Amino acid sequence: MKESYITTAIPYVNGNPHLGHAMDYLLADTLRRYMMYCGEKVRLQAGTDEHGNKIFKKAAEQGLPTQEFVDINAQKFQDFIHSLGVEYTDFIRTTSPDHERRCREIWTRLSDHIYKDKYEGWYCEGCESYVTSKEHDNNHGECPDHKKPYVKLSEENYYLRIADFKDDIRSAIESDELKITPSFRKKEFLNLLKDMPDVSISRPKEQVEWGVSVPGDDSQVMYVWIDALANYITVLGFPDKDISEDWPAHTQIVGKDILRFHAGIWPAMLIGLGLPLPRNLLAHGFITVNGEKMSKTVGNVIAPEDILAKHGLAAFRYFFLRHASTTDDADFTWDKYEASYNELANDLGNLVQRLATLCEKNAVVGQKVEQRANPDFDDHMKKYEFNIAFDILWDGISELNKRIDLEKPWALAKTHPDKARDVLIKLVIDLLAINNRLKLFLPETGERIETIFTATKIQPPATPLFPKA
Ligand code: MSP
Repeated sequence: MKESYITTAIPYVNGNPHLGHAMDYLLADTLRRYMMYCGEKVRLQAGTDEHGNKIFKKAAEQGLPTQEFVDINAQKFQDFIHSLGVEYTDFIRTTSPDHERRCREIWTRLSDHIYKDKYEGWYCEGCESYVTSKEHDNNHGECPDHKKPYVKLSEENYYLRIADFKDDIRSAIESDELKITPSFRKKEFLNLLKDMPDVSISRPKEQVEWGVSVPGDDSQVMYVWIDALANYITVLGFPDKDISEDWPAHTQIVGKDILRFHAGIWPAMLIGLGLPLPRNLLAHGFITVNGEKMSKTVGNVIAPEDILAKHGLAAFRYFFLRHASTTDDADFTWDKYEASYNELANDLGNLVQRLATLCEKNAVVGQKVEQRANPDFDDHMKKYEFNIAFDILWDGISELNKRIDLEKPWALAKTHPDKARDVLIKLVIDLLAINNRLKLFLPETGERIETIFTATKIQPPATPLFPKA
């Protein structure tokens, strides 16, 4: 069976993992679990983007050799991913010798589309990227993301001739051969593509020391984006190995800010290499805190560890997968988080506790998990509306709560114990069927629920699933 391949953006390792990164991982993990649930074999890549000036400077600030610094931070990201209950199959680090060698080979294979030229323009050191004069003027000379003035740079660079690929990229995106979700971002990007100039893909070594050298020109290192984008195929072994088992990717997941690199430069590289384009690009929104962009300068960054420590992993996944839209921005506040946790505890935690207690009292034994079709759910999952698919499951949970209240099996047990047992058995079977999909979002909780209600003897958990703090 061919594998389906899902990718996540590889974060820069100059800082700690944050909520934005968590979003990439949670969405990828949910998609992976869903595709496996549908019977597919899935490969999920994660990794770290370890080159470039920001990282080089940060290591120097901390008085660490750069490699040591990135080693420490790459480990932090791996630990972080595990702490989210996310399972990847491959982890790529851009400083690994295999990646660097493969990157150079990729460059060489693209050389028909690469030329050297002098460049002068506005550059953001935070983004490690040039901006157009229009962007510079619109932003009044300052990067809105990094709150730093753009600097004028002039240098010799290698360029990737985007013009060679523009028509192919446009038609692939327009026809959804490379499908961008959400569709408003597709429109946005197609507009941007019109004026997309050739991209500079190297930096003089005096400016950026920490990077992959350009083949045949030791005075230049590769621009961090070329090196970073290549990760999606170097991790599969390209060009040493035939990657057709996994490539093209089924879905590449990125934040909205980096969609343009993935919809522009990346397809250009792929076409230049004679490789097919990924089938889907999913751009998620940004997580804000109290309505504001997270920023160290503003001092409003909330560490994911603090949120995880509050009510555990299920509460974290529940909030960010149900109350954050898959494709739009979402806001985190502690109040919203508490409300979300209470909902989880009241709707699902109580249901499990109540139903298991009633089953125990009425000697109802564990049931089998029924596979049921849910076309509405599938439809939303396939459209990358994971939060709406999650809502559908939650409607099912609320329905079960209502049924218990209405059918009052505890009262029925006094007069018609057989009927009470039948009511409870139906409730258990229905809960297990919903839970089978709930597991995609809340794997740990789903496993616990399945264990409770499939056991020979149903018993409520010794500690409730979601204890009141
Ligand atoms: N290194 C590049 C990606 C290279 S992929 C070939 C990069 N790194 S990053 O650390 O800045 O961002 C990693 C991911 O986190 C991106 O998908 C980015 O969009 C996402 N997020 C960063 N901040 C975010 C939020 N506040 N909210 C949601 N996601 C955001 O870009």
